[in-house]
Amino acid sequence: MKINVAVIGASGYSGLDLVRLLSQHPQVKLTAVTSERYAQQPLDRLFPTLLPRLNILLEPLQPEKIVRKADFIFIALPHKEAMEVMPFFMQSKKRVVDLSADFRFKDRRLYEKWYQKHSAPELLASAVYGLPELNRAKIKAARLVANPGCYPTSALIPLLPLVQEGLIAPGGIIVDSKSGVSGAGRSANVTSLFCEVSESFKAYSVSNHRHQPEIEEQLSLAARKPLGITFVPHLVPMNRGILSTIYADLKKPLSLDAVRAVFKKYYGKEKFVRIFPEGMLPQTGWVRGSNYCDVGFVLAGKKKLIIISAIDNLVKGAAGQAIQNMNIMLGFKEDTALEQIPIYP
Ligand SMILES: NC(=O)c1ccc[n+]([C@@H]2O[C@H](COP(=O)([O-])OP(=O)(O)OC[C@H]3O[C@@H](n4cnc5c(N)ncnc54)[C@H](OP(=O)(O)O)[C@@H]3O)[C@@H](O)[C@H]2O)c1
Repeated sequence: MKINVAVIGASGYSGLDLVRLLSQHPQVKLTAVTSERYAQQPLDRLFPTLLPRLNILLEPLQPEKIVRKADFIFIALPHKEAMEVMPFFMQSKKRVVDLSADFRFKDRRLYEKWYQKHSAPELLASAVYGLPELNRAKIKAARLVANPGCYPTSALIPLLPLVQEGLIAPGGIIVDSKSGVSGAGRSANVTSLFCEVSESFKAYSVSNHRHQPEIEEQLSLAARKPLGITFVPHLVPMNRGILSTIYADLKKPLSLDAVRAVFKKYYGKEKFVRIFPEGMLPQTGWVRGSNYCDVGFVLAGKKKLIIISAIDNLVKGAAGQAIQNMNIMLGFKEDTALEQIPIYP
């Protein structure tokens, strides 16, 4: 018995990766895929990577049609658009994983400060932050899962265990992240043009990127007190991948083995988090196309911990994590359709 699934926003980079991975899911039947720009076009003509696996037409987003066709819905729309349709999907008793930022915040004021007025704030309390390795039990029972942002995934997987264990001194956390250009989505944008991006490397939204308050809210919930970070994202000329270099001050000196023991406690049984041995540091090229988050670390002096994490922003940072969440919500084996070995080189 297969579950009928819809992907809203299937013509975008995250939506397309959802379709790519879901088409290999033995318990899923893709029954609706949406796009306004490409409505009525066959999806595999638009994206021949899917030939001949999928024979389905893109359709404009009409929520009342979607709920007739699907029992489980992925929303891969820009923020603001997602919260417009969410109340109807919830009233229709569907289960949803939303890839936008609209339901990631517990504090509505924080969302409204960094994004815009929330049109469905009544759903924020029940939405579950979908970081499976740290929130599995709540995800299982949730009807609405807010898939984490790509940068937050790369920062929170390494930081949350250390913060939860009370090992990090407040005030000194620096997250220095570099992302490939697909992080900006597929819509036409001058800053994503080849000539703007290739042969160049830049910082952007320094200390005012919208993923900063998302990381801070999750860290503060874990620490049970407000915890701020310095966050500097960069754009690098590659298609996929995020590498985050994280600097944190330990409250008291710890050995590498002691830090490793904390990661082992949280991730020892986790398939998608690979803690690297001493002397090995993650690279984006080692996770490309996969649902892995790789984590390596070194100590600089007695109390400065430097952690490097790498993810594919479209897989563990978006579509793969979303499917991992669906697998948990529906009781499927958690790695179903997510067993890809990274593509290298
Ligand atoms: N890219 C990443 O690395 C990444 C990672 C994590 C989370 N996310 C989040 O995932 C969501 C999708 O991101 P993306 O990068 O995949 O974006 P994208 O490539 O720009 O795709 C956006 C999709 O939404 C559709 N869409 C846009 N406006 C719409 C509207 N008003 N009504 C109906 N459909 C509309 C587009 O369809 P058309 O064909 O009609 O244009 C397209 O299918 C965003 O919320 C983003 O923040 C992205």
